[in-house]
Amino acid sequence: MSRQKIAAGNWKMNKTLKDGLDLVKDIRANTTSEEGVLTILAPPSVFLKAVAELVADAPHIRVAAQNCHQEEGGAYTGEVSVEMLKSIGVSHVILGHSERREYFGEGNELLARKVDRVLAGGLLPIFCCGESLPTREAEEHVSYVAQQLEEGIFHLSAEDFSKVVIAYEPIWAIGTGVTASKEQAQDMHREIRAMIQKHYGSEVAESTSILYGGSVKPANAKELFAQADVDGGLVGGASLKAPDFVAIIQSF
Ligand code: 13P
Repeated sequence: MSRQKIAAGNWKMNKTLKDGLDLVKDIRANTTSEEGVLTILAPPSVFLKAVAELVADAPHIRVAAQNCHQEEGGAYTGEVSVEMLKSIGVSHVILGHSERREYFGEGNELLARKVDRVLAGGLLPIFCCGESLPTREAEEHVSYVAQQLEEGIFHLSAEDFSKVVIAYEPIWAIGTGVTASKEQAQDMHREIRAMIQKHYGSEVAESTSILYGGSVKPANAKELFAQADVDGGLVGGASLKAPDFVAIIQSF
């Protein structure tokens, strides 16, 4: 079964409005739907509406928020709801990024609620998982990621689960320039797919897109994306430069 190939760009807390929109225009001008890759742009929330408007008629480009609140609405000063995101043309929400887990104390229980809220609102979660260096060195990375998935998304019905994109991002590879080797990426992606198969069966497992994240660059994207269970990338730094991100999109 063929899976959706995805190149997602997580801008994190970078860019001004003008620089961000110039980047989007550049990416749009240099990619087409014929490449068969879904490009997902995740700018900071203040730029989401402007970015969504720029790509509204580009079927191969979608827009993701980097976070959302778990409640439907109400007195949560400073927060952004799923309904708000939906109303401005956002389709996906990144949840459980290691930076949210580490700096904002987001744990699996909270993330499960956010996942539920995103799906209930009709948007699609990009659920991040991944281990720290000490966890990998202790050879506990597979069980660590299994627990993140168990507690974060495996409570979903098969129908809801089939809307989830998974991003495996080993923390030791994020922003460090140290990319997981293609074997390390493939091994973990195969493990993750096996976990999905155990819970939801082969059909769901074979159709779930699993992205790799952590120092993806034009120089390594091709070999990573060529792995049997790597369906694309969640890209940080290299998604901030149009030529690099376009090269990554064209690496499948
Ligand atoms: P880098 O590509 O900068 O390592 O960031 C990866 C990431 O965290 C994407 O969400």
